[in-house]
Amino acid sequence: MKLGWPVEIAGTGAYLPERVVTNDEMAQYVDTSHDWIVQRTGIHERRRAGPGESTVTMAKHASEAALADAGVTPDEIDLIVVATITPDYQLPATACLLQAELGCRWVPAYDMAAACSGYVWALIQAAQYVVNDLAQNVLVVGAEYLTTITDMQDRGTCILFGDAAGAAVIRRSQVADRRMLAGQWGADGYRSMLINIPGGGAKEPASHRTVDERLHFMHMKGREVYKFAVTQMHSILVDTCAEAGVSVDDLKLVVPHQSNLRIIESACKRAGVPMEKVVVNINRYGNSSAASCAVGLHEARQEGRIQEGDLVIMVAFGAGLTWGSLLMRV
Ligand code: COA
Repeated sequence: MKLGWPVEIAGTGAYLPERVVTNDEMAQYVDTSHDWIVQRTGIHERRRAGPGESTVTMAKHASEAALADAGVTPDEIDLIVVATITPDYQLPATACLLQAELGCRWVPAYDMAAACSGYVWALIQAAQYVVNDLAQNVLVVGAEYLTTITDMQDRGTCILFGDAAGAAVIRRSQVADRRMLAGQWGADGYRSMLINIPGGGAKEPASHRTVDERLHFMHMKGREVYKFAVTQMHSILVDTCAEAGVSVDDLKLVVPHQSNLRIIESACKRAGVPMEKVVVNINRYGNSSAASCAVGLHEARQEGRIQEGDLVIMVAFGAGLTWGSLLMRV
């Protein structure tokens, strides 16, 4: 989609739990090794939320940092969207809990369940309220407590995931050139079951049996997801640039979803993007789903990797299967 919307990221924030889980620690739970994990995924360690922490508390920390960065107070927020697949409760929405935690007004607050694409989708969706003057300042959050839905007995998944939160405040651009230039969002529901949590929902309500059979954890067909991811990440990267009428060479920074270093390297290499232009933090945080691009964007801003006028693209994919991209001139 060609967008051309005069919407800017006014501020960003992130929160990473203190507790570091190394690959050697993972090898105490399942039959794996540091070398296997590094070679196949690029992950060295990930974070795990601890006592007293939850998706909402992580979202709150990240949001407060984003608000401070944007110079916006909680009562100036007009809409809150939280991308998450690990809400604190089935209901109410995490965004409603966050609204109260931050001390915002009674503004609309809802969750977006698009898995790892959720943050990009939430940005695209939230920006429409800004463009249409239905909201001035929107808080967009990606927050995940993935280790609560990760089966620590399944070596095919447990090594991948970590906990984190990232946030951004978006508003109408204060500088003419800052724009959301193009974006994509899509889903292939025909392949929904490649990543799913079979139990605990309306189809298989929680019972002793669903717990005994570990159906309340995430199940994934890793190899098939891998193939989808490499192809899709490459094509949305290239297609989004084409829709905006910019060359891939002109990109200053690519902020990809951190799912597997090999997926990122393969997609970027095929698109002709050198790795020095790519944000990589999977070595430190693993895959934090909806928080992944949010944290990546925040860290890139903090490290001074993004300057006025740069072209920055986020690319993500995840359960659903879903995908999303957003190309901005910042
Ligand atoms: N440690 C050691 N061996 C492992 C392992 C682990 N943690 N996990 C799997 N293996 C084994 C498998 O059992 C298999 O053994 P077998 O050949 O005896 O059956 C072998 O390694 C190869 O398994 P495979 O699934 O083909 O490995 P892979 O190279 O595809 O890597 C993933 C597995 C999960 C790392 C990879 O498929 C992946 O990253 N997929 C995408 C996942 C993703 O991005 N998900 C999130 C979407 S947002």
